[in-house]
Amino acid sequence: MMAIFKKEKSQPLIVPQHIAIIMDGNGRWAKKRGLPRTAGHKKGANNFRTISDYMNKIGVKYMTFYAFSTENWKRSKEEVETIMNLFKDYLIEAEQRLLETDMRMIFIGDRSVLRPDLIELMNRIEAASKDNTGAIVNMAINYGGRQEIATACKKIAQKVKAGEIEPEDITEDMISASIYTANQPDPDLIIRPSCEFRLSNFLIWQSAYSEFWFDNVLWPDFTTRDLDRAIHDFSNRQRRFGGVK
Ligand code: FPP
Repeated sequence: MMAIFKKEKSQPLIVPQHIAIIMDGNGRWAKKRGLPRTAGHKKGANNFRTISDYMNKIGVKYMTFYAFSTENWKRSKEEVETIMNLFKDYLIEAEQRLLETDMRMIFIGDRSVLRPDLIELMNRIEAASKDNTGAIVNMAINYGGRQEIATACKKIAQKVKAGEIEPEDITEDMISASIYTANQPDPDLIIRPSCEFRLSNFLIWQSAYSEFWFDNVLWPDFTTRDLDRAIHDFSNRQRRFGGVK
C-alpha cells in the first residue's frame, strides 16, 4: 500500500492496494426522481467510469466492482437487458481504451450463460489486456461468492480424482488460487453505499480481513470526495489480522 498525501503532519493517508465496491442504490436514485429504474443504472454505469478512472489515478492497484449478481436475474427482463446493454457499451469503449489506460480487465463470475456477443467481447478484452501493467479491474458479472467457492471445490476435487493431490494436501492457499481472483491480494477495503449493511454474496472468501465502509449516499451520487472519505477512514483503522498490536 502506498501513502499519497499528508492528512496531518505525521499521519499519511494510505491508499488501499485493493478496493472493492458494491454499486448499490441505482433503483432508489431513479425512484427519488420519478425516473425508471433503468435511468439509475445508466447513471450508475457512468459513475463506474468516473470512480474507476479516479482510483487508477490515485494508485489503487486492484479494484473489483459488483455489477451483476447470480441473484439479479430475478429482476424484470427489461431491467436485466438494460444492465447488459450498458455493460456492452462499456466493453466496446474499454476495448478501445485498453492501450491508453494500461488497465488489465478481468471478468469474474460465470460468463457461460451470458449473451454470446458479451462473452466474445469479454474474452477479447481479457486476452488483449493480460499483459497490461496498470491497475487490475475485476468486473463481477453473474457473480456469486458461493458459486465461486463451489466452482473452486469442483476444480480441486478433480485434482484429487485424477490422483494429483490427496485430500490432506488441500490448503487455504490452494482455495485462494482456485477462485476467480487467483494471484490477487484480498480486498483491503469494501465499500457499499446506499445504506445497506451486508455483503450480498460478494467476495465472501476474500473478505475475511477486509475493512468495510458503508454510507447513505446512493451509488449514482457517489463522488470522488466520498471515495476520499472512505480512504481517510480506512487510514485510521488498525488492522490486526487476528494478531495483537
Ligand atoms: C444495484 O442497485 C445495482 C445493480 C444490481 C446493477 C449495477 C449495474 C450497473 C452500475 C451498470 C452495469 C454496467 C457497468 C458498465 C458497470 P439496485 O438496482 O439494487 O438499486 P436499489 O437497491 O436502489 O433498487
